[in-house]
Amino acid sequence: MNASSTRLLIAPSLLAADFARLAEETKAVEAAGADWLHLDVMDGHFVPNITFGPLVVKALRKHTTMPMDVHLMIAPVDPYIAAFAEAGADNISVHPESGPHLHRTLQLIRSLGKKAGVVLNPATPVEAIVHVMDLLDIIMVMTVNPGFGGQAFIASQLRKIATLRRMIDETGRDIILQIDGGITPATAPQVLEMGADCLIAGTAVFGAPDYAKAISALRVARPKEQPEFAVNAG
Ligand code: DX5
Ligand code: ZN
Repeated sequence: MNASSTRLLIAPSLLAADFARLAEETKAVEAAGADWLHLDVMDGHFVPNITFGPLVVKALRKHTTMPMDVHLMIAPVDPYIAAFAEAGADNISVHPESGPHLHRTLQLIRSLGKKAGVVLNPATPVEAIVHVMDLLDIIMVMTVNPGFGGQAFIASQLRKIATLRRMIDETGRDIILQIDGGITPATAPQVLEMGADCLIAGTAVFGAPDYAKAISALRVARPKEQPEFAVNAG
């Protein structure tokens, strides 16, 4: 059974939460039915914004049982992987552009017992990961340029998502296909149709008055087995 036939995962992005109340916000989305907590780490260098580091991940670890899905937007990335692993990250995802040796970075994440992910920016081609598929647990497609929440969904990425779905299915492995950026009840069905497994949503969850309703609104009907869809769309 591959990931496309399992339950849709919803990962609220803490970037849109109230930073003065991170523990409460984390517990609130967990109670509201979130599957994973997405944590955006930004350094003001790889992306034009600064958020938080491993100390905040560690502080939140004791407030939730949700898997912590850490998205590193920092360069260089390798010197900080161990710190995020020790802080309690379950998944650690990196951009190919954030270091000279993606294969080595993914090996490092795996060697620390964590799920390894790669993140593709809107302009990054799928070819960037063809030769590291065996080291991947997660592929994240950016449907905005990384750095900020609340940006508009970039529809040109839909074809890329479909292509990646096909590439994952060809491996026969349970690689989770995540989508990050501009996810709303309007865009969610589009990415699900292309074969996404996990939706990351900041503004659509933390910007809503009722987190449970907001999460339910993203759990739209998911296409079952449709082996031909990826061929048509890719
Ligand atoms: C952007 C981050 C996203 C961000 C998404 O660099 O990687 O996770 O929080 O925010 P929304 O859902 O508001 O587009
Ligand atoms: Zn993110």
